[in-house]
Amino acid sequence: KAEDGSAAWLRYAPIANAKQYETLPAVIVSRGESASERAAAEELRRGLTSMLGRPFTVAKNGRGAAILLTADAHLPSESYRIARNIHGLHIDGSSPAAELYGVFHFLELIASQRPIRDEKTQSPSATIRWTDEWDNLNGTIERGYAGRSIFFDNGHVRADLTRAGEYARLLASVGINGCNVNNVNADLDTLSPEHLREFARIADVFRPWGVKLALSIDLTSPQTIGGLDTFDPVDPKVIAWWQSKAAEIYKLIPDFAGFTVKADSEGRKGPSQYGRTPADAANVLARALKPHGGVVLYRGFVYNNHLDWNDRKADRARAGVDNFVKNDGTFDPNVIIQIKEGPIDFQAREPVSPLFAALHKTNVAIEVQTAQEYTGQQRHMVFLPSMWKWVLDTDLRAPGADGKPRATPVKSIVTGHAFPNADGSARMGGFISVTNVGLDANWLHHPMAMANLYGFGRLAWNPDTPVDEIANTWSTMTWGSDAAVRATVPKMLLGSWQVYEGHTGPNGIGTLTNILGYHFGPGIESAERNGWGQWFRGEKDGIGMDRTSAGTGYIQQYPPELAAKYESLATIPDDLLLFFHHVPYDYRLHSGKTLVQSIYDTHYASALAAAEYVPQWKSLQGRIDPERYTQTLHLFEFQAGHAIVWRDAINQWFAKQSGIPDAMHRVGND
Ligand code: GCU
Repeated sequence: KAEDGSAAWLRYAPIANAKQYETLPAVIVSRGESASERAAAEELRRGLTSMLGRPFTVAKNGRGAAILLTADAHLPSESYRIARNIHGLHIDGSSPAAELYGVFHFLELIASQRPIRDEKTQSPSATIRWTDEWDNLNGTIERGYAGRSIFFDNGHVRADLTRAGEYARLLASVGINGCNVNNVNADLDTLSPEHLREFARIADVFRPWGVKLALSIDLTSPQTIGGLDTFDPVDPKVIAWWQSKAAEIYKLIPDFAGFTVKADSEGRKGPSQYGRTPADAANVLARALKPHGGVVLYRGFVYNNHLDWNDRKADRARAGVDNFVKNDGTFDPNVIIQIKEGPIDFQAREPVSPLFAALHKTNVAIEVQTAQEYTGQQRHMVFLPSMWKWVLDTDLRAPGADGKPRATPVKSIVTGHAFPNADGSARMGGFISVTNVGLDANWLHHPMAMANLYGFGRLAWNPDTPVDEIANTWSTMTWGSDAAVRATVPKMLLGSWQVYEGHTGPNGIGTLTNILGYHFGPGIESAERNGWGQWFRGEKDGIGMDRTSAGTGYIQQYPPELAAKYESLATIPDDLLLFFHHVPYDYRLHSGKTLVQSIYDTHYASALAAAEYVPQWKSLQGRIDPERYTQTLHLFEFQAGHAIVWRDAINQWFAKQSGIPDAMHRVGND
C-alpha cells in the first residue's frame, strides 16, 4: 500500500504481539474540554486502535475499567505521569500539552512493545524546546532540502495549513513546544499588520498540539515598517514602537512564544550601528514581550565575515566569546543567547563552543541543525543525535565558586543548572533545532533524516537519553518491528556520523565542502583565502589552524583545564587536531599513523562503509513497503557514489599538497 510519508514515526503499524496488552481497557476517559486534551484523547484512540487491532473509544465519563486522561496541577510544569490502578491506567499531565506528551510516550511504549509499568514523573530538561524553520515569505527555504515551505507561498501564509498542523503533531510527539516559522534572515516586513494577521492562522493550527509560534525579526523593523528615522534600541521612540508592536501581536496570538534575532551578522544590521551592545538590542525586545510572557532568543552567531586572511591572529571561532562575554549579566531574564553547538557553523565535527562556559549570568540555549547543511543535505544518511550527544556530554570543566574545575557538561549548562540564578534556581535554557522541513511528503526528503528530528526532540526532553535507544525506537516506529529490520537499521544509523566525517573532513579540519556555493560536495580550497574565516590553512609545510597561545589564542577561551588539554599535542584528541593545531603532513597521530596516511585510509574505509549501506538495505527488501524501500535505496546508491567523489577529491588534494604518496598505492591510481 502507498505509505503516508507525512506520518513519519507516528505510523502506528499493527504490532506483532498485541496479546501482551489484552488487559488494556478499551475505553479512554477524558473530561478535558481544551483542543489539546481532545487531541490527546483522539491520538490515543487512533494509535491504540491501529497498533492493537481492536477498537478503542473516547468517553467523557465512565465506570469500570478505563484509560483515564487527567489534568493534575500538582505535577511540575509540562510534566506527566503514567500509573496503573485497579480500574486500568492513568495518564496525568500538569497541563493539556503535558497530557499530550504522556499520551505520545505511552503510544511509543506500545509501538516498541515495552511493558506497561508505573513510571516516575517525566519532566522536560528545559523550557525552550523549539525548532527554527528558515522559511521565506515567498515560499523558498534557506538551506531547505525537502521542497518549498509548508507555511508560506508567494508572500503570504498558505491558504491550506494542513501540513503545518500535521507538523505540530509530530513536534508535540517528541515534546517540542515552540516553532519559529520564518528565516533568521527575516523578511524586513515580517511584522507588518497584514503578515501578523496571517501568522495568527499558523498559531491556530499549532495550538492544539501545544506548539507555540515564534518569529524571527529584523532589528531595523521600527525603521523599515514603522517609518521611524532610527532603530537605535535605546531611543524612546524605538522602545515605544516595540511595545506597541508586542501588544498588537499578543492581541492576535495570545500565546505567542517570542522573537529570534540575528543581528550584526552576515550583513544583518544590528545595535553596533549605534554603538549599542547586543544586550541593549535584546533587552528592548525583551521588555516589550515581558508583560505578555514572551522571550527573546538572541543569536550568538555574530561574527565578521570580512576577516583578513593574511592576519595569522584573525579567527572567526573567537567571535562568540569576544562579542558576548563583556555583556554577561546585562541581559534581561527573558533573554536567552542561542549558541550554535560549535564555534564555526555546523561542520561535520567542531569542538563545542567555548561561549557555553563563558556566560555565567546569562541564559543560554544550544542551536543544532537537523537540516544537514554541511552534512549531506538529506541526500546522505547522517544520524546527528550521535554528534549532538557527544556535544551535550562534552565536559567544559568550568571552575566553580572555589575556582576549582568541576563537571560542567554542555547539557548541564543549557538546562540552566551549571550556572544557576542568584537564588539557586535553574536558569531558563534550552534546545533549538534548525529543521527546515518542506512540502516533500516525508518532510525532510531522506527518510533516514527524520531520525534527526525525532532524536532532537528526545534529547531536548532528556539529554541523557542514550542514542542507541533513540535509534532503536525511531527505527521500530518508522520501519516496523521485523527482526532483520531492527537488527540492521539502528546499526546503520549509529555508525553514520563517523562514516560521513570520515569521507569528508576528518581530524577537525571542517567539512571541506564547497562553502562558496551550495555547501554540498567537495570544494576543498573554497574555505581558504577569503573573508569567511572557515580556514584550515593548508600550506606546503603543514595544515590546520594554529589556535594555540602562539597562534590565534582561541584555545584560551576555554576554561583552563580544557584549554590545557587542547593546547598540548600530547593530549589533543586526533579527531579535533586540525581545528586547533598546524602540523606537518607526516605528523604522527595518537593512532600511530601519520596524518596524511590516516586521511587516505579513513577516506577509503569510510567510502567503503557508505557503499555497504546499499547491500545492507537490499537485505531488507520485502520487509519494508516497496515505496519507501525504493526511495531509500536510491538515496543510498547516490550516497555510495558521492562518497567516492569525496574520497578521491580529498585524497588527491592531500597527495598533491603534501607530496607524500599513499603507502597502499591507491591514491592517484583509480
Ligand atoms: C549559515 C548558513 C546561512 C545562515 C547562517 C545563520 O551560515 O549558511 O544560510 O543564515 O548560518 O545561521 O544565520
